[in-house]
Amino acid sequence: MKGVVLSGGFGTRLRPLTHTGPKQLIPIANKPMLFYAIEDLRDAGVKDVAIILGTIAPEKVQESVGNGSALGVDVKYITQGEPRGIAHAVKCAKKFVGDEPFVVYLGDNILKGGIGKFAKKFEESKSDASILLCRHKNPERFGVAEVKGGRIVGLVEKPKKPKSDLVMIGVYFFRKTIFKAIDNLKPSWRNEYEITEAVDYLVRNGYDVKYETVSGWWKDTGKPEDIIEANHLVLEDLPVKNEGVIEDEGSIRGRVSIGKGTIVRKGCFIKGPVVIGRNCNISFGAYVGPYTSIGDGCVLKQVEVESSIVMEGSRVECVGRIVDSLIGANNVIVSGSKEVPKAIRLVVGENTYLSI
Ligand code: DAU
Repeated sequence: MKGVVLSGGFGTRLRPLTHTGPKQLIPIANKPMLFYAIEDLRDAGVKDVAIILGTIAPEKVQESVGNGSALGVDVKYITQGEPRGIAHAVKCAKKFVGDEPFVVYLGDNILKGGIGKFAKKFEESKSDASILLCRHKNPERFGVAEVKGGRIVGLVEKPKKPKSDLVMIGVYFFRKTIFKAIDNLKPSWRNEYEITEAVDYLVRNGYDVKYETVSGWWKDTGKPEDIIEANHLVLEDLPVKNEGVIEDEGSIRGRVSIGKGTIVRKGCFIKGPVVIGRNCNISFGAYVGPYTSIGDGCVLKQVEVESSIVMEGSRVECVGRIVDSLIGANNVIVSGSKEVPKAIRLVVGENTYLSI
């Protein structure tokens, strides 16, 4: 079985973070979210993986994944360009998959428990497609399946009036019949070639489409609050590790992972689950609270941070408490209290959200 991971799209709802890089590289517990998909494929025995690239800094994906050997897979890259829909992205991989069954994994989905058992079952079957479903309280935000008597009878993308609460997870198992369905698609109301409609075509034309329901957590990370929640879910299972220097062991409580070269000065307090990358400097009474991920090379002074992601190379040296926040790479946040007149001073890009 081959794997196709989607890393295109615009990531509009995650701007400004997605002005400079694709959303699939945003770190969850200090690992680009795309890596979770690739690792799930690897763990399911999929070795040949194509990554579909979009237009936002695709070279950054190539830089971080390379040829895939560090992740235990063999990666090829396919350029989709402008996002014309998931089905269009899948069609770009037609030559790559050839006659083999394949699994499409949306690079912004994170699924606890992996896909191993679903991949095995599909490979052993002769089905044309198998999709994963999960119950959700807001089905109108997703592709929705109508199921009767254990069979899928219809699929609709983001319906205004969902016929069920069973939503489509961004993992799809296909055989080459899907390309026939894709060739029959017309652009949807959002002007995209919808994979949901392609699978619906298979259902309506008598092809064998199976489904599986996923009971563990699953996260589609479309919005900032989804990313923060995904970070919570992944940190729940964080292994404890300390490769840094902690001046006072008493300042660490709970499950905490600290990378090489990081120093936690006396007088700071870290309450897990927390992951702190390499070469960070935590000093001047800083507090890092539960469900926080701090990327490599960050400096935290005085500040209290909780339930947040601070990406690599950022410096946060201010008085006050930061919660439920996403701070991009290489930012500087300081207290301006010594400057006159006393005021908040900002250099803020487009589409930023600040709550001061
Ligand atoms: O997350 C599950 C949902 O994903 C499903 O329930 C929906 O049926 C499915 O349409 C999709 O909905 P989204 O609105 O969340 O799709 P989004 O536009 O966010 O794209 C999903 C991923 O695919 C994302 O990683 C970007 C990538 N993508 C998207 C498009 C439209 C591409 O690589 N190329 C594209 O042209």
